[in-house]
Amino acid sequence: MKKLISIYPGTFDPVTNGHIDIIERAAGLFDSVIVTIALNKNKKPLFSEEERKDMLINVTSQLKNVEIDCFSGLLVKYAESKNANVIIRGLRALSDFEYEFQMSLTNRKLNPGINTVFLMPNEKYTYLNSSLVRELASYNANVKEFLPDYVLDKLKKKFSSDK
Ligand code: COA
Repeated sequence: MKKLISIYPGTFDPVTNGHIDIIERAAGLFDSVIVTIALNKNKKPLFSEEERKDMLINVTSQLKNVEIDCFSGLLVKYAESKNANVIIRGLRALSDFEYEFQMSLTNRKLNPGINTVFLMPNEKYTYLNSSLVRELASYNANVKEFLPDYVLDKLKKKFSSDK
């Protein structure tokens, strides 16, 4: 039977418990999951590519069918280069829908053989995103419940080194 190779693209600046929830669900559904960091020239990430990769490797090390990678350019081209047949996206709230709908249909137009599968994280993460976590951390607010310890530590260091 054909292997189900999935890719989970995102900025992961930084990876949160909400992302991990999606990665774990995908790892249980597909033969392999490639979590891939999108290198987008228009975003100015807080963490470098290497830092984001290191955090993702650390927090997914117990999932044997998950690997971490980076890409730039078109997502569909990247998926083709990895022989992936599934793109995973998380759907948190209705507000995600329009953007995700547009992306998924555009990607399908570019390659009809690659389907987008939407997974819903646990409801306790539905309002979470990385910008919110970064902003809270910059004001020294407690973000412990949103992040794994390893990432929490890196985020604290990032803001303490700014001062
Ligand atoms: N839990 C918590 N937060 C989540 C989440 C989850 N399960 N899922 C998404 N988010 C948050 C992210 O933290 C991010 O927050 P931020 O903007 O505050 O940093 C936000 O939702 C956006 O999600 P993300 O998954 O990082 O998507 P993106 O919009 O940065 O990237 C790509 C989308 C990379 C898939 C898209 O831009 C892409 O495909 N780019 C390549 C170029 C291309 O092919 N373009 C044509 C596409 S049709």
